[in-house]
Amino acid sequence: MSLFSTELQLWYNQNHRDLPWRDTSNPYFIWLSEVILQQTRVQQGMTYYFKFVSHYPTVKDLAAADEQEILNLWQGLGYYSRARNMHKTAKFIVAQLQGIFPNTHEGLIALPGVGNYTAAAIGSFAFDLPLAVVDGNVYRVLSRYFNLDEFIDTGKGQKYYQQLADELLDQDRPALHNQAIMELGALVCTPKNPSCATCPLQMSCVAKQKHTWSDLPKKKGKVKVKNRTFHYFVVIQDDALILQQRGDKDIWANMYEFPLIQGESLPESMLDGITMIKSVTHKLTHQHLAVHFYASRTLGDLLSTENQLLVSFEDLKRYPLPRVIEKFLEEEMQLFSRF
Ligand code: ADE
Ligand code: SF4
Repeated sequence: MSLFSTELQLWYNQNHRDLPWRDTSNPYFIWLSEVILQQTRVQQGMTYYFKFVSHYPTVKDLAAADEQEILNLWQGLGYYSRARNMHKTAKFIVAQLQGIFPNTHEGLIALPGVGNYTAAAIGSFAFDLPLAVVDGNVYRVLSRYFNLDEFIDTGKGQKYYQQLADELLDQDRPALHNQAIMELGALVCTPKNPSCATCPLQMSCVAKQKHTWSDLPKKKGKVKVKNRTFHYFVVIQDDALILQQRGDKDIWANMYEFPLIQGESLPESMLDGITMIKSVTHKLTHQHLAVHFYASRTLGDLLSTENQLLVSFEDLKRYPLPRVIEKFLEEEMQLFSRF
């Protein structure tokens, strides 16, 4: 058995909470507890666990129950589809499996609504199957203990963590090992301010040594694309045009561009005396820009004159320009002959 699991189990035996679903090897009770705890805190979940166990002592009772009654009992837990799916799964077990919970990984994972985590939880707690659970607690503990960069929200990362968890599992005591690692995540290696000073893994935990725990576990996350609209005013005077410098807090920091108004549409008052020349969309990694160019004889009152300068066509190349401006100039140069 790994040192990791040994330390973990010693700690668990001294420090774990007494929770009702830990005193049973009834797969139906364990399944009920796991469904209830999916988006619910242990304290709140406990009340509901007792309610369901006493109203429906067997999976057959649950399957035979009136859906309205189940939903009434579920009241207050939220995510009512969980209750409906639970009812469906109970009916499936009764209709297809004579009301007997499967006792293999394949059998468990084939149940509607049962994924890797729940299959490992039921399999190990009820049947002592050597299946490692990987839930949010486990991701946190493992990512910190080994200081891992793998993402927990990608298929590749999840596979990596499952393999690691499988390797660390104490094959002889999978239930104890699984409860222990989840309990450590819930009580000690918490998302904020983990109690490293009392942690049984502190001597070999890499994140504790390197002070990286607050950045772990890593998530790739969906980077939201932001949509913005830029209205550029191409103001030409003789052989020169007006440029202004950008600030340093946004895209294209400190580069030069035409006088700019941002916002979906231009104020009415600005529409006089301007002609739309061109519209393009410009895609950056995290921003999609709709860029409109207008020819304008003068700068409207709404445009600030701060930071603006008159730059001759000749001198343009001395100013760093965002690609979208540069491209506009390349493509529309002939336009300037009209002025
Ligand atoms: N959360 C999910 N499953 C749990 C379990 N078996 N014990 C404590 N908290 C849990
Ligand atoms: Fe988590 Fe700290 Fe323990 Fe490392 S030492 S596993 S960061 S609580």
